[in-house]
Amino acid sequence: MPLTEQQLEEFDQAGYLFFPNAFSAGETQVLRQAAVDVYQMQREEVWRESSGVARTAFAAHTYNDAFRRLGAHPRLINPVMQLLDGPVYMHQYKVNAKAAFDGEVWQWHQDYGTWARDDLMPEPRAMNIAVFLDDVTAANGPLIFLPGSHKQGVVAAGHDLETTSYPLWTLDRDTVTELYQQGGCVAPTGDAGSMIVFSSLLVHASPPNISPMDRTIVYLSLCHVDNHIRQFKRPEWVAHRDFTPIKPLADDTLAELID
Ligand code: SIN
Ligand code: MN
Repeated sequence: MPLTEQQLEEFDQAGYLFFPNAFSAGETQVLRQAAVDVYQMQREEVWRESSGVARTAFAAHTYNDAFRRLGAHPRLINPVMQLLDGPVYMHQYKVNAKAAFDGEVWQWHQDYGTWARDDLMPEPRAMNIAVFLDDVTAANGPLIFLPGSHKQGVVAAGHDLETTSYPLWTLDRDTVTELYQQGGCVAPTGDAGSMIVFSSLLVHASPPNISPMDRTIVYLSLCHVDNHIRQFKRPEWVAHRDFTPIKPLADDTLAELID
């Protein structure tokens, strides 16, 4: 179902849209098992926290069938094609673990800030769409957004090579405080199977997870095909170089895998 005028207006104002329970319990279980499988793999695409637990599995759509299907799922691809007004390719694919007790921080950043500086993506005609594979609560390291911050363009950032295993262009405290004073701060929470689409300019972060509950979220970063990256400095499995338009699969593509 296409996004309504009201949803488009909400996205424009806030920089994100939340879709509770977009995937069934059965579909979500298929994806949760897929995450367990990929985190067990010893591959260069699977990055770990300092404790050794998985932090992120990059490009999981290229080596796991359930994640391949999710990467072309119409419930993700169609709204993003509508928002970006045309065909999209997969710029990045991450299965982020944020494991119970050990999941570490993601510092304040804009995704497009990294894509512009590191990959020379020409414009912010790209966005994230995320699916919760666990219930996300206030306790287990939810995503935190600064609503409206996507209207600021690319904000000043420094290259953080130290605080986590993943290099990121991050914002300083004064900038985050100023943006917070303009639009507040929210942490959308909900059941496993819920979905969030957010602008690649929206400032976001997530705190460490010291709860006993895992918090796994899959992120597709989709880019308009005309806006593909121009610089290939990062590994192919972090910033993809296949700019083929994604053709959405059938809506039951994941349901087919339910036992
Ligand atoms: C991200 O910002 O790319 C990931 C944040 C998270 O999974 O908590
Ligand atoms: Mn991000």
